[in-house]
Amino acid sequence: MTHRLLVTGGAGFIGSALVRRAARRADAALTVLDLAEPADGMLPSGVDVVRGDILDRDLLDALVADADVVVHCAAHSHNDYALANPRPFVETNLVGTFEVLEAVRRHGTRLHHVSTDEVFGSLAPGDPPFTERSPYAPRSPYSSTKAGSDLLVRAWVQSYGVRATLSNCGNNYGPFQSVDKFIPRQITRMLRGHPPRVFGTGEQVRDWIHVDDHAAAVWAIVDRGRSGETYAIGAATERSNLDIARALRALIDGAPDRIEHVADRAAHDSRYAIDASKITDELAWRPERRDLAAGLAETVAWYRANEDFWGARVDEVEGFYAARDQ
Ligand code: DAU
Repeated sequence: MTHRLLVTGGAGFIGSALVRRAARRADAALTVLDLAEPADGMLPSGVDVVRGDILDRDLLDALVADADVVVHCAAHSHNDYALANPRPFVETNLVGTFEVLEAVRRHGTRLHHVSTDEVFGSLAPGDPPFTERSPYAPRSPYSSTKAGSDLLVRAWVQSYGVRATLSNCGNNYGPFQSVDKFIPRQITRMLRGHPPRVFGTGEQVRDWIHVDDHAAAVWAIVDRGRSGETYAIGAATERSNLDIARALRALIDGAPDRIEHVADRAAHDSRYAIDASKITDELAWRPERRDLAAGLAETVAWYRANEDFWGARVDEVEGFYAARDQ
């Protein structure tokens, strides 16, 4: 039987990785709903791409009516943009998720909601990693809207019997990530001859996972996850921002050059880390791309070879950061 899959945000970094993975399945008919046009090479041929907003209720309703499963990935995701202008985050992440929930409720469609470990707040150095049972403690405009969206999903499961699963993943890296995020920004700065820029001390820690491993985890949940359950996704690869900047520097110019410390982010979470035991034990998912050094080298090579993807955006991104002394 063919599964008709609708991926909201399927022209984004994580959404498109989900679609590329699903396209390998012979039994999947794929539709993407995204405001943005997919970049060249981002989506396989045969994927039906609909340009539009999850806030467009009629459009969303028609697409959900034709789907067996909705994977909800559409979100504004950048912390620094949320600090500068939180309104679109409230509209898309909160109200948009509400619209998705109402649509799947009307049509009895199965939903998977893609979320983030940031909903759990910030860890101190010796704290145990986040699990599905960690209390919600978001500290920023972005993470609070994602936390709110998770709570809406949970409430719709309880109140209306919507069939939904959730996942909370750590920091992703890989091809097609927007240049405003940490790793692509540093790579593209260095490819243009500028040093890496870390916020504040650079000692903040993130738990990195290759986007393809995240995509495999989401499909494991769609295939085998239990409705109403949340799954934390991570590859147990904690690194400080300075560690990452140095590793990229070594890959790109081999010189242990100066790393610039710039103004810190407001409410900068100091550490994220994930305990992925539940998805590993229950769904037999495991990250396959555990070698971060190899993954970073591959990612650098991808950005070197794909300036078409990022070249037109870097000046705007650097202008945004320059206005904030970052
Ligand atoms: O943990 C999952 C989250 O990871 C996702 O929910 C978010 O959508 C995603 O953006 C990411 O959030 P972060 O804020 O951790 O990612 P970002 O790439 O913006 O920054 C990673 C770290 O690097 C963070 O400590 C801030 C720092 N940073 C970032 C930039 C852009 C720098 O030091 N310099 C930079 O130029």
